[in-house]
Amino acid sequence: MSKVHTRDLSFELRAGETLLDGLERTGHAVEYQCRSGYCGACRTPLVDGRVRYPETPLAFVASGEVLPCCCRPDGEVRLDVPLLILKQQA
Ligand code: FES
Repeated sequence: MSKVHTRDLSFELRAGETLLDGLERTGHAVEYQCRSGYCGACRTPLVDGRVRYPETPLAFVASGEVLPCCCRPDGEVRLDVPLLILKQQA
């Protein structure tokens, strides 16, 4: 299992859960559309750690970014993503 750190909290990814699923479950503000690596809507800044893609995504991913809908963390990762409620209050 992988530990995920964000701006506001840390959580463990559950078995079979995508990074996007985990971020949603824990109340983070993440955009998405296709949930399968095509659109790039879920593009999220990666602050630390590494991810891999079981299948190469069609959407462009720059270094320092990840597509949480279709990547697998390689150990601990740190993402620059806020909680939904904090984003709404800003
Ligand atoms: S939601 Fe489309 S690439 Fe992640």
